[in-house]
Parts: sequence; structure tokens; C-alpha cells
Amino acid sequence: MKYSVITFGCRVNQADSLAIEAELQARGGISVASGDADLVIVNTCSVTASADQGARQTIRRVARENPGARIVATGCYATRCADEVAALPGVASVVPNRDKETMTFVARLVDPAALELSATEGPCGRPLTPGLMGRTAWTLRVQTGCEESCSYCIIPSTRGPGRSRTRSDIRAEVARVIEAGYREMVVTGVHLGSYGRDLHPCSSLIELLRELVDTSALVRISSLEPMDFPLEVLELPCAPHFHLPLQHASNRILRAMNRPYTIEFYRTLVDRVRHCLPHAAIGSDVIAGFPGETAEDFDELRRYLEHSPLTHLHVFPYSDRPGTVASRLPGRVHGSVIKERAQQLRAISRELNERFRESQRGARRPALTIEDGSMAVTDNYFRVRVPGGHFRNEWIEAEIA
Ligand code: F3S
Repeated sequence: MKYSVITFGCRVNQADSLAIEAELQARGGISVASGDADLVIVNTCSVTASADQGARQTIRRVARENPGARIVATGCYATRCADEVAALPGVASVVPNRDKETMTFVARLVDPAALELSATEGPCGRPLTPGLMGRTAWTLRVQTGCEESCSYCIIPSTRGPGRSRTRSDIRAEVARVIEAGYREMVVTGVHLGSYGRDLHPCSSLIELLRELVDTSALVRISSLEPMDFPLEVLELPCAPHFHLPLQHASNRILRAMNRPYTIEFYRTLVDRVRHCLPHAAIGSDVIAGFPGETAEDFDELRRYLEHSPLTHLHVFPYSDRPGTVASRLPGRVHGSVIKERAQQLRAISRELNERFRESQRGARRPALTIEDGSMAVTDNYFRVRVPGGHFRNEWIEAEIA
């Protein structure tokens, strides 16, 4: 069976798609372009209105270009608006996130008789190869769900409460991916910092990381909320690369967002990371035009970012998500102002990135070759071109140009 998986959204969704692909390949599936596939899985995101729109457009395009394909929609948009998605052309079924996690739906798609086999083997039960889904590093999802209540966020309603995978379950997956030849793991979760709080006996992210850094693969930590950042991480041999979502630098707006920290806390944390690891990449998420954001609030955000040691930003123009607390807040910012502010933040992101590259130019860092071996990604997240003669998935030392 020829299949194609199209993924939107965050690393967690990417991890889910990797597990789906591994399962499909284990059942004899062959990855092809969506235009040639019998089965197209669209793993959707719903973090903004444009994420919803992107999923709808993709599904329509696949249905138009490949009318014979069975389209299966899953992910956060498909979970939040199942009926709307089911009504799109070519959609054969909609799989909510909770069913995606069990992975038995994949077996049912490929071969109903294989269902029992899937239940006993679980995802990724067969040989894997680095490069699946075009990714050289393995994305390791260690938990899902979120119990925070950020006023703008739709994710708790699409992913449910926090659920951590057991240490032994994670250990088994890590053993399989290392055996398969993976040399880097990106540790991810919807609310990664809450890892282990719901387990019996209780565990924690730092305990898990201490175990993971003892394996042969480099551990890269994906997005981690500032209030959850365990400072002990700075002493572990993880990749010097962090993502600490700020969202805003005005304490008034942070309170309206229901983010449980202040800009003073955030500044101290990021300065500490920079002081301990001068070569670390430190990314952040920021929202432009949250309801009630005045010109002064925006100015606070802009001024903090311009002088911060952050190295790159993901800028989200505020997008109203129906059903969230923020969608009922007064003081809507006009769309054209949101757009203009987002542009200013993106310009700051480019400057921060350039400043960081300048500070690292000429440095030699460990890097993992990707694609056909002519490119590599350094531990502090620079993409660099490397001289010929390397294969994909080799650790080399690369100079940052
Ligand atoms: Fe999007 Fe769901 Fe991730 S809304 S950002 S795919 S948790």
C-alpha cells in the first residue's frame, strides 16, 4: 500500500506522525508523494485560525489532485472540529487525538486482520531507519496533554489532561531507536515540564533527562515552559539549545494570558542560561496583538526582545480560538495593527539571529549530518554546509560560517 503523511503543527504532532509512519512501514506501506498515494493521512494543527485553514486547503488539494485517495484526517483541528473536517472532500475518516495515541487505527486502515498484532507490538515495534519522514533525529514524545490554562490556548481541549509515558515504556523506545542507528533525540511533550507528575511513583523531567543523556544519542530538549525549567539541565550534556516561550514582556498582558511568571523571572532565567552557556541557542514564542495590548505594552515587549540574549523568535499574530477565555476579553486589537506588530517582531527575530550567528562565526561545534550528508545541524542549532564525503547521520565537527 502506498501512503503519504502530511504533518502540520508542533514537534508533538511530528512525533505522532513519525510513529504513524513507523507503523505503516512495519505493515509494508511505501511512502510516496500525496498525488500517488492510496492513503493520505493529514495530521492537523489548530493552534491558530490559519493552521485550520492550512489543513482545509491541503485536504481539498489532495482530494482534487488524487481523487482516488482515502484521506484520513487526525490531529488537533480534526479533534476540535470533527464534523467540519469530515465534510471536506475525500475525507474517509476522522481520527481524534485520543485514538491516534493508541495507533490501532493504523492497523485498521492497512489491514483489519492485523489489529491484534498491533495491539501487542505497539508503535515502532519493527526496524526503523534514520531519515524516516525526512528527519535524521528521532522525535521522542514523552508525554501529552496539558493542565495549564493559558487564556488564549486551545490545546488543552484537543489534547486532554497531562499523561506521561512510563519510564520503562520510554526506555524501550529509546533502545529501539538507538539500535536502529539514531544519533540524536529531540525530547518533546505538549507540556514537557510536567513530565512525571502524574506517574506512580512520581517522576520528573530532570530524572528522565539524566537517564537519557546516558545513552549514546545527543539529547535535544524541545519547548519548555519557563516556570518548569530545571536549572540542573544546565549541567547535563544536552544540546545547548533551548526553547523558552515568553509570549509577552508586559506583566499586565502575561496576567491576562494567565501565564504564571513575570518578565523579571523570565529575564533572570534567560540571563542565567546565557551566562552558563554562552554558545547556546535560546528560542522563544511571542504573541503580537493579544486582546488589550496597548502601544505601551507592545513597546515593553519590543524593548525587552531587542536587548535580550534570545537567538530566534516564533512570532504568532494573535488568533482568536473559539471557546478560550481570551476570545471573550475586551480590547480587541485591529487586524492591521496585529500584522504590523508581528512584522516588527519578525524583524527583531532576524536581528537576534544575525547577532547570534556573528558571535559564533568561526566556532567549531559538533554537528549531525542531514539530508544527503552535505548539510549538518550543530548542537547549538546552526545549519551549516559541510565538505563532501559524508553520509547522512554522522557526527562531525563543523565550523559555523
Ligand atoms: Fe497544534 Fe495541537 Fe501541536 S494545536 S501546536 S498540533 S498540540
